[in-house]
Amino acid sequence: MGSSKEEITVAERNPNQEVEAAREAFEREFERFARFTGSGVDISLNDANTEQRALAELRTKHLGKKSAIAGAKKLIGKVAPEERASFGQLVQQTEGSIAQRIDEAEQSLKSLIEAARIERERIDVTIPGRRPRPGHLHPITLMRQRIEDIFVSLGYAVEDDREIETDFYNFDALNIPEGHPARDPQDTFYTTEGFALRSQTSTVQIHAMQRRGAPVRMIAPGRVFRRDTPDPTHNPMFFQVEGLCVDRGITMAHLKGTLAEFVHRLFGPDTKTRFRPSYFPFTEPSAEVDYSCFNCGGPGCRICKWSGWIELGGSGMVHPNVLRAANVDPGEFTGFAFGLGIDRTCARIYQLDDIRLLFENDVRFLEQFR
Ligand code: DAH
Repeated sequence: MGSSKEEITVAERNPNQEVEAAREAFEREFERFARFTGSGVDISLNDANTEQRALAELRTKHLGKKSAIAGAKKLIGKVAPEERASFGQLVQQTEGSIAQRIDEAEQSLKSLIEAARIERERIDVTIPGRRPRPGHLHPITLMRQRIEDIFVSLGYAVEDDREIETDFYNFDALNIPEGHPARDPQDTFYTTEGFALRSQTSTVQIHAMQRRGAPVRMIAPGRVFRRDTPDPTHNPMFFQVEGLCVDRGITMAHLKGTLAEFVHRLFGPDTKTRFRPSYFPFTEPSAEVDYSCFNCGGPGCRICKWSGWIELGGSGMVHPNVLRAANVDPGEFTGFAFGLGIDRTCARIYQLDDIRLLFENDVRFLEQFR
């Protein structure tokens, strides 16, 4: 385009040919917009907006002040009088038809844009909502709360204490001096010099007596840590609940009565208890406590491993050295203590054959305890 041949042609054209050329030029450029007036047009909102702007430019170019048609209008007065009327008509008709074509395409584009906008903003109010999944308490928490409720109703305070301890609270004050063999099975995780993760909740016995003095009655549920290899019945982190009752004239009978009452409330009034002599450095005498199986009640079943009894935990009369370590006078006060495994009891009640299930945070498992 723009060649000298073209220029010569333009210069030689008569006014009618000028108008004809303008119409043809319009037709060529309008071709791509013609499709919008058809049906079933598929165009994105972005493209439709772009095309709308291009169409507005096309209108200016072919109908505006500097357009060929505007130029032709100025010629109307200059053509020979006998041709003026027909030339004027031609110009008007051509302008009218160009304007009409553009108007139609513009209308169609407008409708397409409108439809695309509505589609984009459409909300299907009939789609079912996403159902929120309500959370719930962990089975160990449920178990802990049941245990707490029972002891609170018996007049016990609930103590919450630190999980990082010094040797003094975890061992020495509990009558387990350095080098004592009782330290071995409770090997734990050491942090910086002199600190370790507590291996038993018995540490809270000392803290509670130091804080509250005597008499004192408290339970302390919480996490404990041991250097254990995980297997179906062991986990390096597990939960215990410690119990301590110190007052004037406390005897083994109080210990037995308290734990008997506890298992009655937890497993039912027919539950029996059994105390077997044992050894713990922080109690004297010491006993292991069992309760009759909540499932079979004695004859033996899978849950109690055919013995009729299930282990509850350790217990005993608080050793005078422990009272002394916490500044309580063993001449005036005596007490009993016990320590129970929360997760062990939990696993037993729900018949879990692997205690690690409680710590895997698998919702498919946890959802069963809703
Ligand atoms: N602390 C002991 C343990 O972790 C459990 C225990 C036994 C606690 C006897 C006591 C107790 O308070 O009297 O194995």
